[in-house]
Amino acid sequence: MNKFRGSTMYAIEVNNLKKYYPKKIPFPLRKIEWVEAVKGISFKVKKGELFGLLGPNGAGKTTTIKMLTTLLEPTDGSARILGYDIRENTREIRRRINLVAEGERTLYWRLSGYENLKYFARIYYVSKEEERERIEFLLKLVGLWEKRNDLVMNYSRGMKQRLAIAKALVNDPEVLFLDEPTLGLDVQSSIFVREFVRKLVDEQGKTVLLTTHYMAEAEQLCDRIAIIDHGKIIALDTPDNLKKLVMDEDVVEIRLKGNVPEEIPWRLAIVERDVESNFTVLRGTVDEEELPKVVEWLVRRKAKIISVEQKEPTLEDVFIRLTGRGLRD
Ligand SMILES: Nc1ncnc2c1ncn2[C@@H]1O[C@H](COP(=O)(O)OP(=O)(O)O)[C@@H](O)[C@H]1O
Ligand SMILES: [Mg+2]
Repeated sequence: MNKFRGSTMYAIEVNNLKKYYPKKIPFPLRKIEWVEAVKGISFKVKKGELFGLLGPNGAGKTTTIKMLTTLLEPTDGSARILGYDIRENTREIRRRINLVAEGERTLYWRLSGYENLKYFARIYYVSKEEERERIEFLLKLVGLWEKRNDLVMNYSRGMKQRLAIAKALVNDPEVLFLDEPTLGLDVQSSIFVREFVRKLVDEQGKTVLLTTHYMAEAEQLCDRIAIIDHGKIIALDTPDNLKKLVMDEDVVEIRLKGNVPEEIPWRLAIVERDVESNFTVLRGTVDEEELPKVVEWLVRRKAKIISVEQKEPTLEDVFIRLTGRGLRD
């Protein structure tokens, strides 16, 4: 019955994890203030699960990933990866996991794709006999076999990211951490990376924890999502269940021209804004009786309403419902 290795069915168990960064306030105050980046989060990720940490910039996603991959000491709380403690068992953990960091900069641009993987395979003590086969397998997996002898400096951004993922698979990790894996990629490359990550989980049984601030990405890709905001998890469930939070409410999108104050006295947030043409899109959960009041309020502030439309709820609406703010940057 127990198809899982180790003593636990959980790949990741996080218990009240906290990280406060010290911040020096210079003369004349000369004191230390604490930036509360992660304020006590708890969650569990099952083996073979694709788990997403979704949240806006500054929410604490990278800090969380750094603690879980043993790169950063937590201020308080604890976490286990494959049953190993992130403070006590760093060696055991590092052997069994890998990470694609945010804006990965660890590839050697003056080496070819092949040479990069050879270098990292040696760091992980992949045996000489296995090395060639492993590298060929990985380069084919990420579609870079044809380009294996080109220098990385001549790779496109998408190709570099694919190589970074191949690099992170060189030690055949059980748990893979991906920090904003599609950040800054073109549409085509983003699709490749998403499909690739899904396959890693479905076909190779890997556990993946990824962070993103793209709602659509989390919604399409993840088995479960923790929404993180200001260092706290404010909701955690499957995408479908999260959307149930706004299912029986009416989601509306209001497109208008004119200035709208940041603070709007309903669960509405600015989700798009073009300063030049003075164009704004508001979105949120507003019921039928309230809608005329909202429109009146906007018109009184000299907004020229272009359209008011009913929409299918998305994860963004869940975020707006929970925080009163939009997730876009
Ligand atoms: N090394 C650091 N020193 C001080 N503050 C930091 C440091 N790294 C991140 N922070 C702060 O911690 C908060 C969370 O940052 P981060 O974990 O990078 O969030 P995210 O990855 O979700 O954008 C932010 O307010 C950020 O400014
Ligand atoms: Mg980050």
